Amino acid sequence: MQSLLPIEVDGYLTELVKAGQVDPVLDEMERRAEADGFPIVGRAVGRFLELQARMIGARRVVELGSGFGYSAYWFSRAVGEDGEVVCTDTDADNARLAEGYLRRAGRWDPVRYHVGDALEGLEAVDGELDVIYCDIDKDGYPAAWAAAAERLRVGGLFLCDNVLWDGRVAGLQPSDHADGHAAGQQGDHAAGGAAGDAAGRQGDHATGEDRRAAVTGAIVAMTREVAQDPRYVSAINPIRDGVLVALRVR
Ligand SMILES: C[S@@+](CC[C@H](N)C(=O)[O-])C[C@H]1O[C@@H](n2cnc3c(N)ncnc32)[C@H](O)[C@@H]1O
Repeated sequence: MQSLLPIEVDGYLTELVKAGQVDPVLDEMERRAEADGFPIVGRAVGRFLELQARMIGARRVVELGSGFGYSAYWFSRAVGEDGEVVCTDTDADNARLAEGYLRRAGRWDPVRYHVGDALEGLEAVDGELDVIYCDIDKDGYPAAWAAAAERLRVGGLFLCDNVLWDGRVAGLQPSDHADGHAAGQQGDHAAGGAAGDAAGRQGDHATGEDRRAAVTGAIVAMTREVAQDPRYVSAINPIRDGVLVALRVR
């Protein structure tokens, strides 16, 4: 994916966080993401997620779509050792990698990893939650919101990545802003990758364009629902690919 920000601005935001968070394990995770084209959130969003969780004194976090633990690294910093970060992912290899990285980084203690469907993982966790962070296949966003909205305490946060989807949510094509904008270190999962594959399963005959439209439609549908939900006050931070922040107020 491309960041919607000019490459210089994206680089500036990333470097600020790098200077403040030196950790060779984090560097290693970023190198793996780069080499494999795996879509991690990256430094600026990682730090932003940590900040959001710290700002509400979060102790209980559930991640929907954890990959090999990069975003969980940041939540683990926020909740402290007596907190809880429940990771979910369908891919058992990711769980194994996450444990390796997070143990070496001294960030594994609060983490539990559920291998399987993210919403089943969420259902298996009892009680009210402080943060639910959504980063699964994008066609699953409306269902994720439906499952998450009532699980958060008043004062809790629903956070969701990629809600600007390279500008497609506003009718742009990535080629409209490719020059001079930061190419994500996260690889391009917009048209293909996990999201595209999942959308593709819905109809073998769908064209790539149909798939992209369906995925974009799912993101927009979820974002509009959140924006209009009287229980929540929400806004989108447009760093990288857009992070939705929704605070439960009633
Ligand atoms: C964008 S990556 C997550 C990256 C991670 N949040 C980070 O920044 O480090 C999405 C991950 O979600 C997983 N995934 C997608 N849909 C899922 C679902 N419905 N249930 C569980 N895992 C899912 C994929 O296997 C993939 O590893």
